Amino acid sequence: MARIIGIISGKGGVGKTTVATNLAAIMAEDYNQDVFLVDCNFTTSHVSFYLGMYYCPVTLNDVLKGKAKISQAVYPHQSGMKVVPAGVASRTLKGVDYMFLKRHVKKLAKNADIILLDSAPGLSREAFATMKASDELLFVTLPNIPSTMDVIRCHEYSKKVKKKPLGVVVNMRHKRPYELSKEEIEQLAELPVIAEIPYDQYVHKSLAEKIPVSLLNPYSPASNEFKKLAAHLLGAKYTPTGSIERFNYWIKNVFGPRKKKKS
Ligand SMILES: Nc1ncnc2c1ncn2[C@@H]1O[C@H](COP(=O)(O)OP(=O)(O)OP(=O)(O)O)[C@@H](O)[C@H]1O
Ligand SMILES: [Mg+2]
Repeated sequence: MARIIGIISGKGGVGKTTVATNLAAIMAEDYNQDVFLVDCNFTTSHVSFYLGMYYCPVTLNDVLKGKAKISQAVYPHQSGMKVVPAGVASRTLKGVDYMFLKRHVKKLAKNADIILLDSAPGLSREAFATMKASDELLFVTLPNIPSTMDVIRCHEYSKKVKKKPLGVVVNMRHKRPYELSKEEIEQLAELPVIAEIPYDQYVHKSLAEKIPVSLLNPYSPASNEFKKLAAHLLGAKYTPTGSIERFNYWIKNVFGPRKKKKS
């Protein structure tokens, strides 16, 4: 039976899909895990855009409408992960019953190692359905008060439905003095901070290229932290990038071709 991990946040746009796609890619490619990434953000689904998987004739929406089996909505990704996309058009939402999500995810869990559920933001019915379908929860926040407060709200709900909290991922850290520190977030959320992902321009590039940053540039600052987090979640030993690879990366970035400035 697979581990079912929900990637949750109260606030939108904090990086859940970025965290989910990168963890799934690393777990599949580096650790040879049988990983399913399920897009549970039905109203504003993004996973297929992040991975450049545009042609998906059967989606999770069809499954939750009772029109298809979950096995028909599974698509392979180059990293080795398997993706279950949600519908992208608003009209595909009609008739979707979120309450069947758990049942279908459990079916996937029979033949997998890890299932990652990319949640919708907020405390909506679809976000609750994702939490209920999960066994363990990873909370994603920015290092500021509003998104940490929303993690607290989600954590409160997760206690009611008795889900195991894995901890908080602090994303898009700029290391500015006005940001909440790791200790402040831990105190407020009453949860351990298990990863701090830096703000990284390569994440934007990866979005444009439709490849998780950990595959596009495995030595970028965010990729290193995603790899560390994946190892932590799998209970594996994290081996930092070798100095030769880091040196090559540095050379490429410092002396690589640059665009001419417009005069
Ligand atoms: N570490 C990072 N560095 C730079 N940009 C990032 C980082 N993490 C995420 N982003 C960018 O922030 C934006 C929001 O990220 P993402 O879509 O993953 O958030 P989300 O929580 O899934 O959003 P939603 O709540 O809408 O589902 C995207 O443009 C993404 O590329
Ligand atoms: Mg998202």
